[in-house]
Amino acid sequence: MEVIISETYEDMSRAAAKAVAKLLNSKPNAVLGLATGSTPLGAYKELVRIHKNEGLDFSQVTTFNLDEYVGLKKDHPQSYHYFMHENLFKHINIPPQNVYIPSGTTDNFVAFCAWYEKRIRECGGIDLQVLGVGSDGHIAFNEPSSSLGSRTRIKTLARQTIADNARFFDKIADVPIYAITMGVGTILEARSILFLANGEHKADAVAAAIEGPVTSMITASALQLHPDVSCCLDRPAAGKLKMIDYYKWVQEKHPSAPQGT
Ligand code: GLP
Repeated sequence: MEVIISETYEDMSRAAAKAVAKLLNSKPNAVLGLATGSTPLGAYKELVRIHKNEGLDFSQVTTFNLDEYVGLKKDHPQSYHYFMHENLFKHINIPPQNVYIPSGTTDNFVAFCAWYEKRIRECGGIDLQVLGVGSDGHIAFNEPSSSLGSRTRIKTLARQTIADNARFFDKIADVPIYAITMGVGTILEARSILFLANGEHKADAVAAAIEGPVTSMITASALQLHPDVSCCLDRPAAGKLKMIDYYKWVQEKHPSAPQGT
């Protein structure tokens, strides 16, 4: 795992957007896995800026989102469809038919989940998956105790996640209880992963994910099994990492390291 610690959220977001732009510049028809939540907002804003000011092209890009709340229509302000449209898609030149987001309103979730997995495969698999982390260590909506081999399916949200996400709704009772989410196994098949976290409230989850044992109780810890993960953190989110001096040393020595390091 590469651990990149930035001084601020803005620096972290720029580093993340730069990694996405680098991929798109070398592979214009890349397949991106995208996340929602407040964490990637800065990176999306920066990608929009690069698109507008430097011509970053999304015309051949395909995207697959991680998850969606069950029961929310696409135009619900708290749906992940709405979030992605407002914060990224409406500002860039991605063809709408290249955008895939799990449906929260399908009448056949089992068939939809199987189709979603098939569509990812048919598009050649995900080149780069952007990920945030829940305060309980979840990735997408893979709550503690999710199988590390899990595939796209319905999950019941943990009380902690419902409480965390209540800030976006009028009242906690409005937060959906179920979500459709890519599984941990689905996520681990991405060729590379960009794991983002900011803020002190994520420090425990980040430390458990990067330095703790691999366990289904912290589904983000499964990323330790993946060969190509970059973790972009701001300083508060990195605050509980035991090896922080080593990560900083690696960052410092990176420019003179042999190619491929
Ligand atoms: C939700 C999403 C996750 C996201 C997490 C953290 O649970 N399903 O994909 O990583 O929230 O959200 P935030 O970035 O707002 O802290």
